[in-house]
Amino acid sequence: MATDAPSAPAPPPQATPPLVPAKAILELDGVVAGYGRTTILHGVSFTVKQGAITTVIGPNGAGKSTVFKVVFGLLRAREGKVRFDGRDITNVEPRRLLSLGLCYVPQGRNVFPELSVRHNLDLAGVAAGSGIDFPARIAAAMERFPMLRSKADRQASTLSGGEQKILEIARGLLLDPKLVLIDEPSIGLSPLMVQEVFAVLAELRAKGVTVLMIEQNAKSALGLSDQAIVLELGRTRHQDSAAAILADPRIGQLFLGGAMGQTAPHVVDAPPLA
Ligand SMILES: Nc1ncnc2c1ncn2[C@@H]1O[C@H](COP(=O)(O)OP(=O)(O)OP(=O)(O)O)[C@@H](O)[C@H]1O
Ligand SMILES: [Mg+2]
Repeated sequence: MATDAPSAPAPPPQATPPLVPAKAILELDGVVAGYGRTTILHGVSFTVKQGAITTVIGPNGAGKSTVFKVVFGLLRAREGKVRFDGRDITNVEPRRLLSLGLCYVPQGRNVFPELSVRHNLDLAGVAAGSGIDFPARIAAAMERFPMLRSKADRQASTLSGGEQKILEIARGLLLDPKLVLIDEPSIGLSPLMVQEVFAVLAELRAKGVTVLMIEQNAKSALGLSDQAIVLELGRTRHQDSAAAILADPRIGQLFLGGAMGQTAPHVVDAPPLA
C-alpha cells in the first residue's frame, strides 16, 4: 500500500530556470560620430537580440539614420565599438559587411529606376561571393514575391513606392543576411503596402533573420516588434521590450516634441542629473 511505502524524498526546491539571454547579434558601445565638425552621436550604446525585431524610434534629427550609417560603415565612428555576430566591425567597409551577413535598406527609394526589376535583382550578384547559385536565389525571390516575376521586365521606376520597397528588400535578401537594417520602410507607402512590408519583416524573423528598423510609424512598428530603442539628441534614452515602450506615456510626449523625463527607469546612458 502506498502508506507503507517509504516517504518519498521531498522534491528539491524549485530551481529557477537559468535565464539564458538571447544572444546579442549587434552591440554598440559608446559610439560617437558626426559630420564634419558636428558631433551627432554622443555615445550611443545598445544591443540587438538575435532573431528579434527591434525598432529604433526618436524625434526627427535624433540621429537614427546616422546610427545605421555608422553600423554599415558609411560614416566613421570617432569613438566606441560596433560588434556584429561576435566580431568587431567598427569602421569596416560596407562591402565586407555584406559578405558577413549585414544588409542595409536605406530610407527613401534606392532602386535603379531606369533598369528593369530583374536587372535590379541581378545587381545584388555583384556583391555576392563566388560559389553562390545566384540565379536560383533570384528564382526563389520571384517565387516568394510573385509581383517581381510578373513585373520582371518593367522599369523599376514604374513600380509603386511599396513595390519598389519590396524590390529593395528582396534584393537585400538575395545575399542571405543575418541582420537586416531597414530605415523607415513605411514612409510614403499606402496603409496596405505598410502591412505587406511589415509582414515580410515578421516572416524574416520567423526564419531567424534579425531585423533592426527605424520607424516614425511608431505605434504600428512597436506592435510588430520585440524590442525598442529610443534615441534622443544622439543618445540612447531608453531600451526595453517593445510592449513596455508602447505602454510608456512619455513616448507620445516625445513624438509631440517634448523630451522624455530624466528620471526614466531604464535610461541607458543619459547624462547624470544636474
Ligand atoms: N550628410 C550630413 N551632413 C551633415 N549633417 C547631417 C548629414 N546627415 C544628417 N545630418 C544631421 O545629423 C542630424 C541627425 O540626422 P539623422 O538623419 O541621423 O536623424 P534621424 O533621427 O534619422 O531623423 P529623421 O527622423 O528626420 O530621419 C540632423 O541634425 C541632420 O541635419
Ligand atoms: Mg532618418
